[in-house]
Amino acid sequence: MSEPPDDQIELLRDALRYAEHYLGTLDQRNVYPNSEALDALDEFDEPLPIEPSQPSDTLAMLHRVGGPGTVAQVGGRYFGFVNGGALPVGTAARVLADVWDQNTAHFVMSPLAARLEAVCERWMAQLLRFPQETAAGFVTGTTLANVSGLAAGRNEILRRKGWDVSESGLYGAPPIPVIVGQGAHAAVRKSLALLGMGDTHTQVIPVDDQGRMIASKIPKIEEGTLVVAQAGNVNSGAFDPVGEICDRVHANSGWVHVDGAFGLWAAALPSLEEYVKGIDRADSWAVDAHKTLNVPYDCGIVLCRDRAALERAFRASAEYFQWSNEREPMRYTPSMSKRARSIELWAVLKTLGREGVVTLIEQLCSHAQNFASQLHERGFAIHNDIVFNQVLVSCDTDKETQRTLAAIQDMGDCWCGASTWHGRSVIRVSVCSWATTSEDIDRSVQSFCAARKIARTSN
Ligand SMILES: Cc1ncc(COP(=O)(O)O)c(C=O)c1O
Repeated sequence: MSEPPDDQIELLRDALRYAEHYLGTLDQRNVYPNSEALDALDEFDEPLPIEPSQPSDTLAMLHRVGGPGTVAQVGGRYFGFVNGGALPVGTAARVLADVWDQNTAHFVMSPLAARLEAVCERWMAQLLRFPQETAAGFVTGTTLANVSGLAAGRNEILRRKGWDVSESGLYGAPPIPVIVGQGAHAAVRKSLALLGMGDTHTQVIPVDDQGRMIASKIPKIEEGTLVVAQAGNVNSGAFDPVGEICDRVHANSGWVHVDGAFGLWAAALPSLEEYVKGIDRADSWAVDAHKTLNVPYDCGIVLCRDRAALERAFRASAEYFQWSNEREPMRYTPSMSKRARSIELWAVLKTLGREGVVTLIEQLCSHAQNFASQLHERGFAIHNDIVFNQVLVSCDTDKETQRTLAAIQDMGDCWCGASTWHGRSVIRVSVCSWATTSEDIDRSVQSFCAARKIARTSN
């Protein structure tokens, strides 16, 4: 059923009105939906409708019931997981891209999206100060970017040993020694497992008190080892010594992949150079634009120094494919059809420029410093060096920490998640949104103090 254009415009106007209402009332609502809003979500649990209904009614229901059930992540006081808040230009560009409804498998499907991928690929290498020949694939997030970079690494290591994974699979292939740090993200383990390199054959290297891989503990590297380093520990934000790791691994023709979901962006900042020294010498990198760069979800990127290795990993052919002489997006990702995420990535990079990116990240880091020092002054323990945007906080005991966090989440002024760090329960703060202001930090610190009071009185 196709809508006449007038109806389509009317629907988009409805969406814009609802968006206006949402943004205008953001400050008056809990960061996490209250119980009334959560209960109201039951309204969605209806049987599959038999009859069609009015599109405007569908949208109205989404606004009325769905909107209050969202997490107010686009506001300035969401500090959960490592979720960025979308910059307005990214959201607006995405709306336009969604109206255009572009598929980005082949250039011929969307010359615009394909061309913007090429531009973003070039800009990313310049911004992060990586080799200019670096190739990029645009995927859903870092998990898939890790899978992609590790697939390229695995296949290349085996190719050098005369083995073609695309042709022969892994049956009977020479084993690949794999090394990760103890602080590797779950997504790395998952990616390795998906690629047929499970836990049993993976060597885990100890980390220091900040969660950084201790490079000197890496044993003598066998030829063709795949090493996964990390830029930005998901708890502490700390960076593995990637340059040192590269020196050791490359001496024996290994491959270094960097999981830099949120921390890779530090490579854009001269002021953070000490943490990312030598990161440009790695072979592949995974990063999310939807985290630190504040591009709307979902926007992950795999970067690979060896363009041909990335292309070989995703080789595919069919009679109906239509290749051009232009850069072909599907050559660099596991997927074929995909939405045109290059459009909003381009919009954010174009608008911010290098200086804007630096300012955005410096702002996140300085808010994290401010958050940590205010909490410290009020008697909370801070468990990590604040090198980026992550803060690990605790009260006097694990029980008090857990109760304090429960009260913070309940009060709704801000939202943080839980973790454990060196065996202690911690509250995990991730400052990840352009929208966060100093006032948001002050209000959140007050919420921490009020919550701790509740935790102490409920003892
Ligand atoms: C270090 C690290 N790696 C991987 C991931 C997974 O990224 P995504 O959720 O985009 O798949 C995360 C998510 O926070 C992360 O922090």
